[in-house]
Amino acid sequence: MKVAVTGGVGHIGKAVVQGLMERGDDVTVLDIREPESRKLSFSKVDVTDFVQVAHSLESCDAEAVVHLAAIAYPLHEVPHEVIRVNVTGTYNVLEACRQSGIKKVVVASSINAVGLSYNKVRPRIDYLPIDEAHPARPEDCYSLSKWLGEQIADAIVRLEPNMSIVSLRFHWVTIPKWYSHWRKYHGKDWGDFKGLWGYVDIRDAVNAVLKALSVTWTGHEVLFICASDTTSKVPTMELVKACYPDVPLKRELQGYEGLFDLRKAKELLDWKPLHSWRQNGYSDE
Ligand SMILES: NC(=O)c1ccc[n+]([C@@H]2O[C@H](COP(=O)([O-])OP(=O)(O)OC[C@H]3O[C@@H](n4cnc5c(N)ncnc54)[C@H](O)[C@@H]3O)[C@@H](O)[C@H]2O)c1
Repeated sequence: MKVAVTGGVGHIGKAVVQGLMERGDDVTVLDIREPESRKLSFSKVDVTDFVQVAHSLESCDAEAVVHLAAIAYPLHEVPHEVIRVNVTGTYNVLEACRQSGIKKVVVASSINAVGLSYNKVRPRIDYLPIDEAHPARPEDCYSLSKWLGEQIADAIVRLEPNMSIVSLRFHWVTIPKWYSHWRKYHGKDWGDFKGLWGYVDIRDAVNAVLKALSVTWTGHEVLFICASDTTSKVPTMELVKACYPDVPLKRELQGYEGLFDLRKAKELLDWKPLHSWRQNGYSDE
């Protein structure tokens, strides 16, 4: 399959491009930055420019698009620029796909579309584990941009119901070389309570993208893509009792079980996380 990957030079993009090439897809990277490898098929594109996006998708004859390009680290940018790049970029990519008849699109959303890690104070959580039906209450520019991206995808499939758009709500995408450091130093306090102690290993994130490109259903769906455990060395029920004692629990949580319900991704993508930072010799001590 001919796949265009926007943001293919970035952290997740490089791994996605490699995963696609390993399975034999014909990949073109669309990015504002040049890739290091000269062997890649590359088109220099600013996703905030509709004409550039439409022209490059046409030139590479893309049958599917993975849209990752965004300002992913918002604390280094002014808020209106995060909204401009992330929201306009997502609109341009999805609308260019619709106009050129590209039916399969995977979009990098974020768990922050709900309004979590970047909130000023503890996020309002209605129940745990949290699922995709939970109300979204984004506050900051990045979380809002991701939620608006999902709304744009809803609108695009209303116009073109034969498209398959999958918004993958990644949590903090981690690489295995960080884990030995984590095992030594990380996670004995309450840590990332706003982000509900979530993360996802990059191998699982790439696998979710590959599976999302193969769906046979149409429409737009939003899916949490997270690890099945937390980032913490404190058992999950203790974390909840300490930080979210007033939040109703849909069920009792076992061990270090994660607080994101992953059943929708299992059902619609046949995806589940296979990797954890606890693997390879981690022990509670
Ligand atoms: N890394 C994470 O933990 C994480 C978690 C949740 C969601 N996401 C989302 O996943 C996607 C990829 O994240 P990442 O961590 O690889 O980020 P990254 O910053 O490493 O990569 C983003 C890429 O987008 C490109 N880009 C930025 N603005 C562009 C523009 N105007 N036109 C074309 N290209 C542009 C950059 O050059 C870069 O190569 C983003 O949409 C991000 O919001 C990332």
